[in-house]
Amino acid sequence: MKRLVVLISGGGSNLQALINACENSEINGSILAVISNKSAVMGLQRAVKHGIDAITLNHQTFPSRESFDDELKQRIDSYQPDFVILAGFMRILTTEFVKHYHGRMINIHPSLLPKYPGLNTHQRAIENGDTQAGATVHFVTDELDGGPPVLQAAVPILPEDSATTLAKKVLSAEHVIYPTAIKWLCDERLTCADGQAYLDGKTLCQAIKLEDTDTY
Ligand code: GRF
Repeated sequence: MKRLVVLISGGGSNLQALINACENSEINGSILAVISNKSAVMGLQRAVKHGIDAITLNHQTFPSRESFDDELKQRIDSYQPDFVILAGFMRILTTEFVKHYHGRMINIHPSLLPKYPGLNTHQRAIENGDTQAGATVHFVTDELDGGPPVLQAAVPILPEDSATTLAKKVLSAEHVIYPTAIKWLCDERLTCADGQAYLDGKTLCQAIKLEDTDTY
């Protein structure tokens, strides 16, 4: 079983989807710890409820980004994880931190990357008149939301959609694609080396679409 540490900053609905998938053995992995940079968030309560170590590491109590990331790295590594999973972790990470976990750290971003890296993705998609929004699972590299994409789910943007309604629909799709990608990761089917993602040894030039996952 692969050892997993999950980093969060908030509600943790993606975390919950992963906990469920681990508990029902869909994912060959075990979540050993959940670490949040914000205290008292719902994601931490979810972890406690499932007997997972729940740790708060408040970035505001550190003098610099480097010192926070350094402590975070030590806390993570004390669990000797195979993979570090970012699930709504709202912090920009230092180059050194990212390098340390190269090929072992994965993120989910609420847009159809390479469109809309960064914040307010749904609002930006609506304002640009896009007909689709979505989410992308990608390996983490130095470039913000720019690492090799793995899996993507699209949802239609309807005329009546607001950023809030869209976020809800996209989150539901996230709860499908994130466990799927992490299953691949834990089964050693999904790998990343030299800034390139591979599934079953084949280069992923672009993200796999949710509707095509049956063929994998
Ligand atoms: C998700 O939209 C995810 O894509 C983004 O942050 C949000 C986290 O939501 N990175 P939750 O905490 O998992 O509910």
